[in-house]
Amino acid sequence: MEGKSFVLKGDVCYNVSQTEFRTLEAGYVVCVDGASAGVFEELPERYAQLPLRDFGHALIVPGLNDIHVHAPQYGFRGIAMDLELLDWLNTYTFPEESKYADLAYAEKGYSIFADDLQRSFTTRAVVFGTMHVPGTELLMDKLEATGLKTYVGKVNMDRNSPDYLSDQTAEASLEATRSWLADVSGRYQNTLPILTPRFTPTCSDELMEGLGKIKAETGLPVQSHLSENLSEIDWVKGLCPWSSCYGQTYDHFGLLGGNSKTIMAHCNYSTPEEVELLRATGTYVAHCPQSNAFLSSGIAPIRDYLCRGVNVGLGTDVAGGASLNMFRAVADAVGCSKLRWRCVDQELPSLTIQEAFWIATLGGGSFFGKVGSLDEGFDFDALVLDDSGIRSPRELSVEQRLERYCYLADEGGRLAAKFVAGKEIEL
Ligand code: GUN
Ligand code: FE
Repeated sequence: MEGKSFVLKGDVCYNVSQTEFRTLEAGYVVCVDGASAGVFEELPERYAQLPLRDFGHALIVPGLNDIHVHAPQYGFRGIAMDLELLDWLNTYTFPEESKYADLAYAEKGYSIFADDLQRSFTTRAVVFGTMHVPGTELLMDKLEATGLKTYVGKVNMDRNSPDYLSDQTAEASLEATRSWLADVSGRYQNTLPILTPRFTPTCSDELMEGLGKIKAETGLPVQSHLSENLSEIDWVKGLCPWSSCYGQTYDHFGLLGGNSKTIMAHCNYSTPEEVELLRATGTYVAHCPQSNAFLSSGIAPIRDYLCRGVNVGLGTDVAGGASLNMFRAVADAVGCSKLRWRCVDQELPSLTIQEAFWIATLGGGSFFGKVGSLDEGFDFDALVLDDSGIRSPRELSVEQRLERYCYLADEGGRLAAKFVAGKEIEL
């Protein structure tokens, strides 16, 4: 494949597993047909003919995967952080999302989002649109043009939502979903649909049941929110008195596991039964530390999830989180885990920066396939990071420089190049 076989040279760092982190100074990373052929100290003779780009002492790391972000909320990122989840949704989020009924507004909002995501540290993302089909298709067109790999969802919501942002009936919501799926089927190379019930409070049982059927028929993945906030959890108990935990309100309708993958954002307060359900169904927890702090939602027990073998990835959850910067999400995951250790539970250690980096790369990457490492056989998603502007009189190891980049990306760091499945992304 033209343009998709080449060699990069630089200071390489990546995980090969949850516990094994590798660094190599002045190493060679080889891309053949969009996949990694491995990382080498000396360039093997068989790759000597490939074009080589020497990035000097820049860091070369795997791309970062944002597995939970709301595109239509990007316009109010960094403001309106004064309320908790349910009031925040009603006061700020639903009014903003309703504007995406207007394609002229959607064009403006989604152009900015797609542009900024293209230039960010994110190589793959799992994205919420709104309930509107034309706007969501416009978002998919915009994301396709970035070259990033994404999943995008038309949001389903048919109850407890304002009239101006609600599918009128479960059947209307399902019909809109089917029509959207027909429209986008086969339309893109990089952009795929994902079923997106907003969360149990805004989705009737009939709607959940219908989405479960679509999932069973199509094998499409699913994304939603789970056990984010204490008032939300109480509300779900009232709405679904038949359920033994919030997670069951999805599982009951076949929305966890089975023939496709599911992402549940947050899981800050999952009960032991719910955690076991997440594990048994292979559901991904999208850990969104910045959003959990700013919406005063709570601190997810990520160490516990890792110990129990629950899949975990990292999300920015813009606009619950303010920043699309996934290095910031890595640093926030470490910070939040330390607060959990200090304030909640000293039985389990906090996360190290390498573990948080693993969550952002391989942890969430496996949702997309063989993604999240520079090791041989993985899709070639890579970032080249010039950290020469983060000044210090000290000599730092490659590992220390990556750690520093997580905290200081925006203070002297520069993204020098970005690749997704071997394709260079324009910055
Ligand atoms: N739960 C339901 N909708 C949302 C949303 O838009 N953001 C967050 N953080 N949680 C939600
Ligand atoms: Fe969210």
